[in-house]
Amino acid sequence: MDFARSDFGDDFYWGVSIASAQNEGAVDVDGKGPSIWDVFANKKGAIRSGHTLAAACDFYNRYREDINTAKALGFTAFRFSLSWPRIMPDGKDTVNPRGIQFYHDVIDTCLAAGLTPFVTLYHWDLPHVLEEKGGWTTSLVIEWFSAFVKVCAKAYGDKVKNWIILNEPMSFTALGYMLGKHAPGKTGLYHFLPAVHHAALAQAEGGRIIRAYVTDANIGTSFSCSEVLPYTASEEDMLAASKIDLLMNRLFIEPLFTGTYPSHDKFPMMEKLYFSNKTWRVQDRLQFDFDFIGLQSYFPVVVRHSSIIPHIQAAQVKAKTRKVPATAMGWEINPDSFYRVLKRFAKYKNIKQIIVTENGAAFNDVVEGDTIDDVHRQAYFEKHVAAMLRAKNEGVPVQGYFAWTLTDNFEWSEGYHPRFGLVHVDHATQERRLKRSGYWWQQFLAAGCELR
Ligand code: NOJ
Repeated sequence: MDFARSDFGDDFYWGVSIASAQNEGAVDVDGKGPSIWDVFANKKGAIRSGHTLAAACDFYNRYREDINTAKALGFTAFRFSLSWPRIMPDGKDTVNPRGIQFYHDVIDTCLAAGLTPFVTLYHWDLPHVLEEKGGWTTSLVIEWFSAFVKVCAKAYGDKVKNWIILNEPMSFTALGYMLGKHAPGKTGLYHFLPAVHHAALAQAEGGRIIRAYVTDANIGTSFSCSEVLPYTASEEDMLAASKIDLLMNRLFIEPLFTGTYPSHDKFPMMEKLYFSNKTWRVQDRLQFDFDFIGLQSYFPVVVRHSSIIPHIQAAQVKAKTRKVPATAMGWEINPDSFYRVLKRFAKYKNIKQIIVTENGAAFNDVVEGDTIDDVHRQAYFEKHVAAMLRAKNEGVPVQGYFAWTLTDNFEWSEGYHPRFGLVHVDHATQERRLKRSGYWWQQFLAAGCELR
């Protein structure tokens, strides 16, 4: 390894990220209402092996231990999300004091451990009662979300300065409202496009609320971004790649900076759809001057032309087919692509700072006694941190990196099968064991230790 922590400067945030639905468990205790994921997980076939969020990693009871582990590994920041239905079980009117108290306890534990809390306001666990009223497909969601953000800002604004409004709007709208693979399991453009628009409006509105209520706030929002590459250099494949790039990336990122949705002269379908809905014209409300952009890039996507896919005429060519190294999720491992995504973001006008709010990899870990020798995960981190340093040295304003994730947790529709943690969790006993990748982070982050 030819880099050290000191190459990033003293003010660089090193953190781990977790999320309420994926980690907390305790789904129906102390006044919490059901989220769309609690309901979705009970549908037959929705989650691999019928796993549910009921126990997750029991962070609700073990947060002290987990936060102290993050501290012991040398991290300086801790990112977690607030469960909307834990704080407001009915979604919009009633505040649950025990929910409020839980996050006070989490925040206080972080602060006592010297970890800077980064709080995500929405990491996919919408209150189920709101989904029954239309969820992200209705413009009412902006009012509901605003009410929730105000409650959180007032409760925690004195202690928490770093806020992330939404986590990966592409994922929760595309998987949840178009493909039906995530909660709430809806499908079709008819659900997807309004959800995209309302998420974009809620994102900007959330930023405005935190700005108004929290003194000295550092406000961001997190996007997923996968570089989209054409399978061959043929014109058809290049066109296919640019359409998928519009759908996966530009559609979510650009409205924030430009106040308008991206267009594509060879993909007129999108424009027709945008403007068939007149609410899409309230452009000024799409923008907000974020202090930082959270970037989450795990893998590149390769696509080719496919005439059998309606409208889009593009299909993915999986890593397995291309015979390139991949994680247990089937995601290509490509640190150069991570570097290029960082460079791409640096080119967007109005980005002041980038924080990598998630990055990591799932592999099939083997437990031997107390040892988990996850060499592949360690290599993934090493190579991605090196790629980030290369981008930083070339002027990309990246100011933090959060590993996904601390403990093996609930990986959405894949249940507990994929393991992304630095800490192995035996889901039957909740026993934790530090993996080799965790020890690697500890060594890398240890003060004065130059791992050259
Ligand atoms: C992005 C999501 O924010 C997180 O919830 C998920 O577990 C990781 N990616 C890995 O898929």
